[in-house]
Amino acid sequence: MKVLIGVSGSIAAFKALELARLLRKHGAEVRFVLTKSALNFVTPLSCQTLSDNEVYCDQFVLTKGIKHLSIGEWADILVVAPATANIIGKAASGIGDDLLSTTLLSYQKPTVFVPAMDEGMWDNPIVKKNASFLKDHGVHFLEPSVGVLASGKVGRGRFPSVGVVLRKILSVYEQRCGLGGRKFLVTGGRTEEDIDQVRVLTNRASGLLGAELLQAILCRGGNARGIFGEVTCELPGDIDTTRVRTSAEMLDALREHFAWCDCLIMAAAIGDYRPQTTSSGKIHDERFELQLEKNKDLLKEVTSQKESRVVVGFSLEVEEHLARARQKMAAKNLDIIILNSPKAIGATRAAASILKPDSEEEHIEEQTKWQLANRILDECMMVFDGRTSR
Ligand SMILES: Cc1cc2nc3c(=O)[nH]c(=O)nc-3n(C[C@H](O)[C@H](O)[C@H](O)COP(=O)(O)O)c2cc1C
Repeated sequence: MKVLIGVSGSIAAFKALELARLLRKHGAEVRFVLTKSALNFVTPLSCQTLSDNEVYCDQFVLTKGIKHLSIGEWADILVVAPATANIIGKAASGIGDDLLSTTLLSYQKPTVFVPAMDEGMWDNPIVKKNASFLKDHGVHFLEPSVGVLASGKVGRGRFPSVGVVLRKILSVYEQRCGLGGRKFLVTGGRTEEDIDQVRVLTNRASGLLGAELLQAILCRGGNARGIFGEVTCELPGDIDTTRVRTSAEMLDALREHFAWCDCLIMAAAIGDYRPQTTSSGKIHDERFELQLEKNKDLLKEVTSQKESRVVVGFSLEVEEHLARARQKMAAKNLDIIILNSPKAIGATRAAASILKPDSEEEHIEEQTKWQLANRILDECMMVFDGRTSR
C-alpha cells in the first residue's frame, strides 16, 4: 500500500510523523506533501527520515515531471492528516493554490481527511458544510476525537489516535462496505468472579477482537457501544464503553443497552461458573475446596427480547464443536455463530468458522483480529441486506 500523507498547518501535524511510522511498520510505503503552514509545525527532515522518501513542499520546483500529477499517480491512497479547516474549505471549493490542494484536485483514487482543529472551528457551519460536501463526493472522513484541545478547552476537535487513523486507512484501502449508521453493541474482554478478596476465577481472553470490532465499526460509519470486562489490550477512546467485572455486571449492562442496538456481537469471554461463596478475607487454608455454580446464560437472557436485532454469538469448543455450536445457535436464537478454538484466546491472529442457521459452515483462514472483526461485520451486513431484499 502506497500512502501519500498530506500535512496541513495544524498543531497536530506532529501526529503525522507517528502515523508514518505506524504505516511503515504495517508494511506500507509512505510519502509526504506539506503545506507552507505545515512547515511551521514539522520539518521536511523529520518527514524524510520517518518516511525514508523524498518530501514535497512546493509545486514550482525545477524537477522532471509535474509534481501534483506524478505523486498522485504514485499513491494508492491520499490521507490529509491533520486536515485544517482551510484545506477542507479549499478542497470543497476546488481551489488549487499549492501542491497539496492541487494534488487533491487532480487525485482520483480514495482520499481520507483526518480533521484536527479547535471545537469552534469544527462546529462552524461553513466547515461542517464543506466537510459534508466532500463526503457527498466520496471523500472519506474520520471524525475528530473529544478531549483536551490545544487551547486547553475540552471539546471535539482532537486528532484521533494514530491506531484508529491506520485502521480508517486500511478500511478505505480494503474497500470495506459502509455500515450505514447501524448501531452495534459489542461485548469484549473477560469476566472475573471473586474467590476471596484478592483472588479471582477468570480466563485468558485479551479483549482484542472486541476492541478491533469497535474500531472497525467506527471506521466504517457505524455507531458503536461497548461493554467490556477485563482486558489486556488498549480500548479505543471516544466510544461509549461500559466497564464491568463479573458475569452478573455484564448482564446488567446488556439489559441496559440491548434495546439501543440493531446488532449485538457477543465477543466477551464470559465465565460459565462462579464460586458458590466468596470469602470476605484472604483464604490461608492449607487445602480448600472451591464449589462452583453456573452463571446465567447471558445471551439467552437477552435474546428473549431480540425482535429484529441481529445477534452474533461465539462458541469455543474443544470437541464436537460443530454439533455444539449448531445447538447453541438454535437454543439462543442467534443469526450468526463464530466458532473458534482455544488457540484464539489471547492471540493476535485467529482462524474461525462462521455458521448461519440455513447454511454450511464456512472456514476462515488464520488472519489478524482486525481482519476477522471486519469479516464478522460483513456477515452482519449480509444478514441485514438479506432481510431488506426479502
Ligand atoms: C499555533 C497554531 C495552531 C493552529 N492549529 C490549527 C489546527 O489545529 N487546525 C486548523 O484548522 N487550523 C489551525 N491553525 C490555523 C492554520 O494554520 C491556518 O488556517 C493556515 O492558513 C492553514 O494553512 P494550510 O491549510 O494551507 O496548512 C493553527 C494556527 C496556529 C498559529
